[in-house]
Amino acid sequence: MKIALVGATGLVGGVMRKVLEERGFGQHDFIPAASSRSIGREIEFAGKMFRMVSVEDAISAAPDIAIFSAGSGPSLQYAPQFAAKGTVVIDNSSAWRSDPEIPLVVPEINGDVIKSTDKIIANPNCSTIQMVMALCPLHKKYGIKRLVISTYQSVTGTGMKAVNQLRKERAGESCEKAYPYPIDMNLFPHGGTFEDNGYTTEEIKLVNETRKILRDNDIQITATVVRVPVTGGHSEAVNVEFRQEFDLDEVYDLLRNMPGVQVQDDPARNIYPMPLWAEGKDDVFVGRIRRDFSQPNTLNLWVVGDNLRKGAATNAVQIAELVRNKFLK
Ligand code: A2P
Repeated sequence: MKIALVGATGLVGGVMRKVLEERGFGQHDFIPAASSRSIGREIEFAGKMFRMVSVEDAISAAPDIAIFSAGSGPSLQYAPQFAAKGTVVIDNSSAWRSDPEIPLVVPEINGDVIKSTDKIIANPNCSTIQMVMALCPLHKKYGIKRLVISTYQSVTGTGMKAVNQLRKERAGESCEKAYPYPIDMNLFPHGGTFEDNGYTTEEIKLVNETRKILRDNDIQITATVVRVPVTGGHSEAVNVEFRQEFDLDEVYDLLRNMPGVQVQDDPARNIYPMPLWAEGKDDVFVGRIRRDFSQPNTLNLWVVGDNLRKGAATNAVQIAELVRNKFLK
């Protein structure tokens, strides 16, 4: 089997290599690609050095699977060209997520939607993935009516330039800016770009992608995305109104029984999810689980996940595993 990684030199690309290796893809032929700036450069994968190739050369090699993490532009341009060669593209950008013909997949939740004929599969937005992991079992049981979400998103979600901005600002050095303002000792309610309706693209992703993954367009959703000077993962305060009554003990059980979710909730011992603990882990952590006394059938949750792992690389590699095991063996 041949596997290509487009955007192999990027922040997510680096974690993709690690996760591919961890999950047994190291024995397959590996084709790393990035922009023309990186052609010929050597990178490491599964204990061996590989030379970076152009995306065109990766397409010509007709890999079985191509994982993309190079942004929407390259995905729009190249994914159809890979697909025409028979390659299954797993795309981490937002380019294809809202296309009704393209599956948007979190394997634990809706892996069943992938068909043998699908050649482009979208990996959801990082903050959506971790949130739906926690919400899925609760939605199945009680039906979600409305979500009010506030996110506290790590700079790693913006890529290498943003992580570099935070580090350099902290060290008092000048650098190229990924954000319009300093991010060290600061935060801003601005993720992605502003739309005419006053919401940002990151906020709209949370609305549309949650509905698509949970297969329920009736869920009412409103979100505020905030970028914070943190590197370990994204955190989210989620207020969930259900269509019917819930039982708090049962909520704990449902969350504990969800594969890929860990309940971390012991306020008496100051135990609650934090990016500090979530960093480098594949699980999504849920805590501060409590009834919202201000209105009926409503719950508050605090959800934390490493946005580079389950929010990006791990989820994409899990999709690759599904495709390999179901359609390529
Ligand atoms: P390169 O390193 O050659 O610029 P990050 O999100 O950390 O900024 O990483 C972005 C990734 O996407 C990098 O691997 C980058 O490659 C890659 N990339 C950017 N533009 C293109 C492009 N036009 N074609 C292919 N890969 C691209």
